Amino acid sequence: MTAAKKTYARITTKTLHEMKANGEKISMLTAYDFTLGGIVDQAGVDVILVGDSASNVMAGHETTLPITLDQMIYHASSVVRGVKRALVVVDLPFGTYQADSKEALRSAIRIMKESGAHAVKLEGGEQVKDSIERILKAGIPVMGHLGLTPQSIYKFGTYTVRAKEEQEAAQLLKDVKILEEMGCFGIVLEKVPAALAAQAAASISIPVIGIGAGSQVDGQVLVLHDMLGMNKEFSPRFLRRYLDLDQLLHQAIGQYSADVKASNFPSKDEQY
Ligand code: KIV
Repeated sequence: MTAAKKTYARITTKTLHEMKANGEKISMLTAYDFTLGGIVDQAGVDVILVGDSASNVMAGHETTLPITLDQMIYHASSVVRGVKRALVVVDLPFGTYQADSKEALRSAIRIMKESGAHAVKLEGGEQVKDSIERILKAGIPVMGHLGLTPQSIYKFGTYTVRAKEEQEAAQLLKDVKILEEMGCFGIVLEKVPAALAAQAAASISIPVIGIGAGSQVDGQVLVLHDMLGMNKEFSPRFLRRYLDLDQLLHQAIGQYSADVKASNFPSKDEQY
């Protein structure tokens, strides 16, 4: 007989640690607004990431770099109002934590205070150690993000798989340890070889959440709009589409427009 799965009324950073220890996989998705945040939460997703991918998905920018702290706080506070169970993690946007650790802390405090979110995420390992330490000292939970870190896209010059070479792989394994030792509650690992991700996850006690990092990690994250099939142009190998929402939306909206033009909407039952 297998033991019944523990149900959690509210997901906390402690819950995630417990889930990893029990071998229970963690589900994570992005959300940027009240309505979809609420749906993702009610569907039972454990962690909702208010990602700086909002820069691409919501604002139409080519990269994550332009989104501002005020814009992230707006998205995060909207999501928080729709969520009852999931842990809400918010990305610190580019330029709000790299210059110095005091600015990093001020940015993290603004997110926590003005959005009501539960934790922040930032990109990098050893090179942003001071910022992470200062934020953690203030009692704010921090999630790391290693591998393909989109805020460094102009340094990388490409969105291809990271850490295929020995030196970058060794630095990544060092960085996961550093993040764990500092007290981060989890790490997102993006687009790295599956074997390396498995080794990284096995080497630490905090959860490693993968995106394009194979199955031998502690959980998975995807961008909501990508997995719902709203973005036809983006088709990386790691993306599984659970819906063709783009097509469904086109169909529904096209039908509405046709109905209006043909005077088929509203009907007698749809008026006062
Ligand atoms: O901003 C984001 O959506 C992310 C995920 C891709 C992990 O960081």
